[in-house]
Amino acid sequence: DWTPDSFIETTIAALKEKVGDDKVVLGLSGGVDSSVAAVLLHHAIGANLHCIFVDNGLLRKDEYEQVLDSYKHMGLNIKGIDAKNRFYDALAGLSDPEKKRKAIGRVFIEVFDDAAHEVQDVKWLGQGTIYPDIIESVSVKGPSATIKSHHNVGGLPDFMKLKVVEPLNTLFKDEVRRVGKALGIDPNILGRHPFPGPGLAIRILGDVTPQKVAILQEADAIYINNLRSYGVYDKVWQAGAIFLPVQSVGVMGDERTYENVICLRAVESLDGMTADWCHLPYDLLAKISNEIINNVKGINRVVYDISSKPPATIEWE
Ligand code: XMP
Repeated sequence: DWTPDSFIETTIAALKEKVGDDKVVLGLSGGVDSSVAAVLLHHAIGANLHCIFVDNGLLRKDEYEQVLDSYKHMGLNIKGIDAKNRFYDALAGLSDPEKKRKAIGRVFIEVFDDAAHEVQDVKWLGQGTIYPDIIESVSVKGPSATIKSHHNVGGLPDFMKLKVVEPLNTLFKDEVRRVGKALGIDPNILGRHPFPGPGLAIRILGDVTPQKVAILQEADAIYINNLRSYGVYDKVWQAGAIFLPVQSVGVMGDERTYENVICLRAVESLDGMTADWCHLPYDLLAKISNEIINNVKGINRVVYDISSKPPATIEWE
């Protein structure tokens, strides 16, 4: 019978056998899958696992610091790389969603490849691939598509020539969470909403600037913190704020304002393929809206997305 404990035991033994004394590099994203894969590998090979966590400047507010910190507490051998400006430079002036994704994918590969080169004699690339990723689902717009389109242009980056080790590739998401729990991983990491690889860049419609990212991070943090304190975060499959490139008129005291709009999105779903918008309580929406408008400079209006997938998608880009 499959149990998290038996899976952990056999997987650690198999990883030891397979990888031996070789070194492995693995990119952590802060998400469930890469975290569980890293902890399993860490149990099997210890400091020979070299984790890399890239700050692309498109993460949620304070997420880079918090996630890096919790990984360090888990004892992982991890290197954080601040690459914010490389991503912002690559994104400057781009407003087409697919061009934005490609630019982010390209810079990520460059940054990761540089970091992987610093690990002497590395033989393996560790990945948090899970079973549904293999049978192709979750995201048609996902990073693998970006990576593929990149390949056709240049040659393969060196890290992609490494042998691949994927300890979770027989598991479904709920099994990954159970394994993570049995491994003692922080429930905050295990219970996280899915977050797209291109991050806030695809939640800022049109061109991305560091200023817009900062505004969206503030609004999104107010939103997510309120979902948590109201006790609905775990009932929502995915939530996030979106920065709309629309200005509207408002009043603040005696002053007329002309500022941007934030849209709130929250969906219920099983796998992201279809989704319904969440019927969040009005008093919660009211509180979030007030807090955002009163505290986030540059925003004077908040709207709520009541579209389901299909025909809308979860992300706006
Ligand atoms: P859509 O917008 O297609 O999103 O309804 C479905 C799920 O996929 C995520 N998503 C992405 N994930 N890279 C990712 O890693 C992407 O480019 C991407 N686009 C969408 C989205 O957040 C949702 O969970």
